[in-house]
Amino acid sequence: MMKKIRKAVIPVAGMGTRFLPATKAIPKEMLTIVDRPTIQYIVEEVVASGIDEVILITSEGKSAIENHFDYDFRLDTLLKQKRKRALRDELNKISGLIDIVSVRQKEPLGLGHAIWMARNVIGNEPFLVLLGDDLVRSETPCCRQMIELYSSVKESIVAIQRVPRDQTFQYGIVEGSKTKHKRTYKVRRMVEKPAPGTSNSDMAIIGRYLLMPEVFDFLGKTTPGHGGEIQLTDALLALANKRGMYAYEFEGKRYDAGDKLGYLKAIVDIALEHPSLGKQFKDHLHSICNTKKCC
Ligand code: UTP
Repeated sequence: MMKKIRKAVIPVAGMGTRFLPATKAIPKEMLTIVDRPTIQYIVEEVVASGIDEVILITSEGKSAIENHFDYDFRLDTLLKQKRKRALRDELNKISGLIDIVSVRQKEPLGLGHAIWMARNVIGNEPFLVLLGDDLVRSETPCCRQMIELYSSVKESIVAIQRVPRDQTFQYGIVEGSKTKHKRTYKVRRMVEKPAPGTSNSDMAIIGRYLLMPEVFDFLGKTTPGHGGEIQLTDALLALANKRGMYAYEFEGKRYDAGDKLGYLKAIVDIALEHPSLGKQFKDHLHSICNTKKCC
């Protein structure tokens, strides 16, 4: 019997070194994209995909993330006194979005280790993983697309995007063959950050996974790999070899918001479509282009 996907793991315990000094005291997942922290976009994708529960993998210094989704009695009372109804409703909507459970990762031993921390809360059912700094914008939420595919393939799925060949060394890369399902490949091989020239695939794994619970058996045995961290990709390859796995070229646009350039691109694209700011922001960009004659 196929089990329903009910839970999503969001690891947010990384150090965010690419964003220092901004992330010394503030989690990178709390950096603002226009008017919401990155993590809120990700939790909203989970909610829009019909998931019941989020498991945050956190670490010391990340309590701002839990607080963001919590009910704040003092703030609510203050806004009530000041009759700020719209703001109050918005904050209460955030705290009521979804049930959130937190698990601590005591040391940042890698993404694979972070996912392994969720094993007792997940139990024996398939689940989603969304990286806390990977933003995907799409008409149908990326996780929902994956859940729909899962109802046909009934095995683990990794979301992928095509990347220029000279950038494959920055990603986990999948090699595989086309299947009868749209935009879907059967995984043959996976390699974390391949050295230039060692893989002829341009299919890069992004921060969305739908995994069978057997992944925990492999994560428990995985030894530190690339960069001295316990890599998720190593356990995924073992799972692919044992049960099979699919790579899905999702429909939508992905931003690596844990990287400065990806973060800026997300801000510009989202600001341009913002209902109250979009028009003025576009005019501003045009005025820059006209002055600097850059486009
Ligand atoms: P990243 O490698 O992008 O996060 O991991 P990082 O280590 O925080 O980033 P840099 O390279 O130092 O800037 C992807 C996701 O996995 C989480 C991160 O919080 C991020 O959301 N992660 C990573 C953990 O939860 N634990 C880890 O040990 C490593």
